[in-house]
Order: sequence, then structure tokens, then C-alpha cells
Amino acid sequence: MVMKTITRVLLVAGLAFGMSSAAMAAKKKMAPKTLMGASGSALSDTCAGCHGTDGASGGPGTPTISGLSAPYFIELMAGFKSGEIPSTIMGRISKGYNADEVKKMAAHFGGKPFVPAKQTFDAAKAAKGAKLHEKNCEKCHEDGGTDVKDDTGRLAGQWTHYLKTTMADYISGKREMTRKMKKKVMKLHTKGGDAAFDDLMAYYASQQ
Ligand code: HEC
Ligand code: HEC
Repeated sequence: MVMKTITRVLLVAGLAFGMSSAAMAAKKKMAPKTLMGASGSALSDTCAGCHGTDGASGGPGTPTISGLSAPYFIELMAGFKSGEIPSTIMGRISKGYNADEVKKMAAHFGGKPFVPAKQTFDAAKAAKGAKLHEKNCEKCHEDGGTDVKDDTGRLAGQWTHYLKTTMADYISGKREMTRKMKKKVMKLHTKGGDAAFDDLMAYYASQQ
């Protein structure tokens, strides 16, 4: 089962990478109008193998990418491309797209509804997490982490595995936080340790 999943992920990665580099090579040679003008929806089809139809991911390892704000989507893709945002897969994939194509995909996925992940959670932890969120995160991740309007990404209903990895990258300094978020996160980490973040994750998982 695990091997099957890995093979599938590798296959899809190879496919997406192969197609985008082929598209780039074709562009260089003859710059056909059809490729230059690929629609956001056509471009986004390559992402569906991992991120699900219209960005609603069905698997824990891949985040849902629908309903993000366009500036944040663009910032993420640029961060993956430059290596500023650590990644297992997106660093390679993001290199296959230019700014115009990313803008089109940002508009495409941004216009699709965010579908919260169906995952299990510990109710007692989720209740503690709700309080921690209110105190430490709500100021920027408004409405319980559902609001993306300040280009903050989506926390509520995102896959726990992805949020956990991202938080670990932030806390270890592999991914940079804004100064104000860093202050809150590091203070909470000192005070509550990993348990506090487990509670937060349970809260975000409970929002289905
Ligand atoms: C082979 C699987 C795979 C494919 C294909 C893929 N992604 Fe990803 N994507 C991931 C994974 C895994 C992550 C988590 C970061 C990482 O480890 O690379 C991710 C993260 C992201 C994120 C960050 C979401 C957030 O909220 O932080 C964005 C945006 C994204 N992908 C966009 C795209 C777009 C656009 C495409 C198509 C051009 C695409 N991805 C194709 C696997 C994939
Ligand atoms: C002062 C504002 C602020 C506070 C407080 C804040 N954040 Fe953030 N957060 C941001 C911004 C802005 C981003 C956008 C990405 C970046 O800067 O890395 C973000 C991004 C994130 C992401 C990445 C989402 C993604 O899809 O990639 C996670 C996870 C996150 N924050 C968790 C938290 C948690 C948990 C707390 C509370 C302990 C918190 N944040 C407090 C502003 C804040």
C-alpha cells in the first residue's frame, strides 16, 4: 500500500515535471500561441494528481490549495522556486512555470472553494487548541484560521501532516516567519512545547 502510494506520487511528479519541461522546451523553439496562452484551468490539470480535483487534496501528505488568496499562492510558488520555502516536491515542480502561468493558476485555484479535510482528531485536545488559537494566532489567522484575506494561508481544515511539517520548519528556522508571528510562535513553543502545537493541530483538524 505504502509502496503503491510512493510509486504513484513519483509517477505523478515525473509526469508533471516532464510535461512542464517539455512545454518550456517547446516554447523556446517556436513559442506557439496555444502554449503561451494556456488557460489557468488547463495549467492546473497537472496539479490534480496530487492536489485533487480543483485543489481539494484527498491525501494527508499533500495540502489543499483551493481558496488561497492570489498574493499568497504566488508567494508560495516563488518561495518554492527560490528554495526559500523548504519542500519535498514543489521546489522541482515550481521551476516549470513562469510568473504569468503562476498568476493564472493562482486565479484558478483561488476561485475554487476550500474543502476541509476529513480526518480524525482528539476532541479534548481540540478544545484546548481552540483556546490557544484564540490567544496566539487569531489576530492574523482570523475566524478560527478559516480566513485567508490577509494572505496568511489556511489553517482550519488543512491536512494535519502538512501543518505539522510546516510548523516544524518554522520553529527550526528552515522556513522564515514574519517577525510578529515568530514572536507568538516561539513564546508559545517555550511555554507549551510540542504539546501546545498538537492541541492546535487537533483544533484545525476538528474544523470540518
Ligand atoms: C507529485 C505531487 C505534487 C504535484 C504534481 C503538485 N504538488 Fe503542490 N504540493 C505537493 C506537496 C507534497 C506539497 C507540500 C510541500 C512539499 O513538500 O513539496 C505541495 C504544496 C503546494 C502548495 C503550498 C500550499 C500551502 O498552503 O502552503 C502550493 C501552492 C502548491 N503545492 C501548488 C501546486 C501547483 C500549482 C501544482 C501544479 C502546477 C502542484 N502544486 C503540483 C505535491 C504536489
Ligand atoms: C502577526 C500575524 C501572525 C500571527 C500572530 C500568526 N501568524 Fe501564522 N502566518 C502569518 C502570515 C503572514 C503567514 C503567511 C506565510 C508566511 O509569512 O510564512 C502565516 C502562515 C502560517 C502557516 C503556513 C500556512 C501555509 O499554508 O503554508 C502556518 C501553519 C501558520 N501560519 C501557523 C500559525 C500558528 C499556529 C499561529 C499561532 C501560534 C500563527 N500562525 C500566528 C501571520 C501570523
